[in-house]
Amino acid sequence: MDVIIINGGRALAGTVATSGAKNAALPLLFSSLLAEGEHIYRNVPRLKDIDSTELLLRHLNCKIQRTGNQFKVSVNRPDSLVAPYDIVRKMRASILCLGPLLARYGKAKVSLPGGCAIGSRPINLHIEPLRQLGATIDIENGYVIAQASKLVGDKIVFEKVTVGGTENIMMAATLARGITVLENAAMEPEIVDLAHCLKKMGARIEGEGSSVISIKGVDELHPCEHRVIPDRIEAGTLLISGAITGGDVRVENCVPADIQALITKMRESGFDLETGQDWVRVKACDEWAAVDIDTAPHPGFPTDLQAQFMALMTQARGTSVITEQIFENRFMHVQELLRMGANITQKSQVAIVHGNRGELSGAQVMATDLRASACLVLAGLAATGETVVNRIYHLDRGYDHLEKKLQQLGARIERHAEGSI
Ligand code: EPZ
Repeated sequence: MDVIIINGGRALAGTVATSGAKNAALPLLFSSLLAEGEHIYRNVPRLKDIDSTELLLRHLNCKIQRTGNQFKVSVNRPDSLVAPYDIVRKMRASILCLGPLLARYGKAKVSLPGGCAIGSRPINLHIEPLRQLGATIDIENGYVIAQASKLVGDKIVFEKVTVGGTENIMMAATLARGITVLENAAMEPEIVDLAHCLKKMGARIEGEGSSVISIKGVDELHPCEHRVIPDRIEAGTLLISGAITGGDVRVENCVPADIQALITKMRESGFDLETGQDWVRVKACDEWAAVDIDTAPHPGFPTDLQAQFMALMTQARGTSVITEQIFENRFMHVQELLRMGANITQKSQVAIVHGNRGELSGAQVMATDLRASACLVLAGLAATGETVVNRIYHLDRGYDHLEKKLQQLGARIERHAEGSI
């Protein structure tokens, strides 16, 4: 297993561009199952989760051609409508093939994704709405077994906001009979991007980006070409890499509006941020104030930036109260930050961060999940001395060569195969 070694204490400077959004690319690739033929996706990031998605699509009889960030999917009728455990366990988002397969072919057998480090990650808000649209769904031997001769539109009210649930049901509803209305739908930019792609395929969708989305089913969809939106979580992570080192970093190929919650909080903390059409710049800052955050569905503060923001708050003046409202176990980076000298008290879903600039010292740390690993890299950039981040396969699931992007900004960061040092 590779490790990342960081020698901290250097202010980052320069310009860096984000890659395509992981959390847009995954549902987009699965939406191709709704229409046989050749789909072309551009700006697809090179990530382990994308590799896992390719594995599953190939298993479902798709032909895949990847050239750089272009991903060509030729969808053919699957020989088997089964998404097996050994593929799904690698990536929970594989559950997003359920809606498309069920809607297009009338049945699907998908392994239950199971939980992960940050929480139990149930899928009841995927299953119940599909039942409401007329599907028969059984859970047997760790698999979701779904059948529906034809889904029929209905009004679905999500009891809580779910990104994946909204995506799965929106995709399924494109081929249902009649109109489906989703209430309390997720409003993330990735939902909007998926709806834009589905409409290019011939779907009839309105309201994407709001909490009420209506879909008028059609008989069939056709393939299309689509460019994946920039990754807002990577953009926020790169912005924080400049901020936490007291540097001056401009992040390009991003959508400032998609990270408005982070921009607002960083400005509240005292950072001078400039924004343009497709870029955000953080200017050098010697001291910043602690601010509180509560994670929430978009447009609230993204849970996927909570760990990275916590790293920033360990260097702030004062005390920050960080409340994780989305996932039940998304503070595993706290223990590792404490090992680097941070002063954090955690009580259930609340972490109280007593900031102190310059208190972090380099250490051997362990990544536990995707965004926790990004947090530890950011902490290493600010720490005095050498930090070794272990188990960075977590990082590779969701960041496209992050260490190369940080090197471009002057960071002393290297990737090494474990045991080679
Ligand atoms: C998506 O996960 C993202 N993943 C996550 O990003 C992100 O953290 C999350 O949305 C919230 O924004 C992808 O898009 C691939 P949810 P998802 O359904 O869809 C509960 C990252 O780091 N829930 O919006 O799985 C759930 O337990 C990853 O890139 C149910 O109770 O998240 C959670 O508490 C991590 N029943 C809350 O809803 C369900 O059926 C939000 O989950 C589904 C979800």
